[in-house]
Amino acid sequence: MEIRIEAHVAHVAVSAADVLESYVRSGPVTLGLATGSTPVPTYRELIRRHREEGLSFARSRAFLLDEYVGLARSHPESYYSVIRSEFVSHVDLADTAVQSPAGQAADPEQEAARYEAAIRSAGGVDVQVLGIGSNGHIGFNEPGEHLDSRTHVGLLAEQTRTDNARFFESIDDVPRRCITQGLGTIREARHLLLIATGAAKADALAAALHGPVTSDCPASVLQLHDHVTVIADKAAASRLQ
Ligand code: F6R
Repeated sequence: MEIRIEAHVAHVAVSAADVLESYVRSGPVTLGLATGSTPVPTYRELIRRHREEGLSFARSRAFLLDEYVGLARSHPESYYSVIRSEFVSHVDLADTAVQSPAGQAADPEQEAARYEAAIRSAGGVDVQVLGIGSNGHIGFNEPGEHLDSRTHVGLLAEQTRTDNARFFESIDDVPRRCITQGLGTIREARHLLLIATGAAKADALAAALHGPVTSDCPASVLQLHDHVTVIADKAAASRLQ
């Protein structure tokens, strides 16, 4: 596992964008994209490189990690919309090349199985961007999740609903269910790129990297993977040994 500690969020973004750019330039690539606040500066850096340095995503495709159940795709906080407004619509990544679970599927369990199969039939993910929840989740795999789980319908932890309330008018509007790639699904990506910024992630990051591998801290499955890059700012890395 490679751990890069950067002085500022801006340096984290450059460092993470460097990793992604090397894949994107190498040929057809399948990216795994996270939403949430953490990767936004990285996506902005990639957008800048697209505009100013000719970085092309024309040969890339992407799978999102997760989606809220019950939000229409047109809802501004659906991850379908968020990844487009934060990243996809600003680069030459074809809209149809970006897949995510359908949060409004009539049968979410069936949709989870369809999504799992879609990732597999695409040949899997080459490089998966991950953020980490303050409770140690990755994707929406909350504490207690089986370490080998596949894409499934899950319940958001109250901590996660509280953390994500900032994106909604009130906590009551934060969905309670999600469809998320499972921990086993995420572990099949060939390279995991975890980005962590801010002091609120320090405990979770330390537990993930230095604690036991346990479903109490889903991100601890990173320790089971042979190609992991962690890029953190000083605040998020403050509890690392
Ligand atoms: C988002 C996702 C989540 C977030 C995590 C951190 O697609 O899967 O695991 O990465 O909740 O969120 P932020 O970056 O908003 O702190």
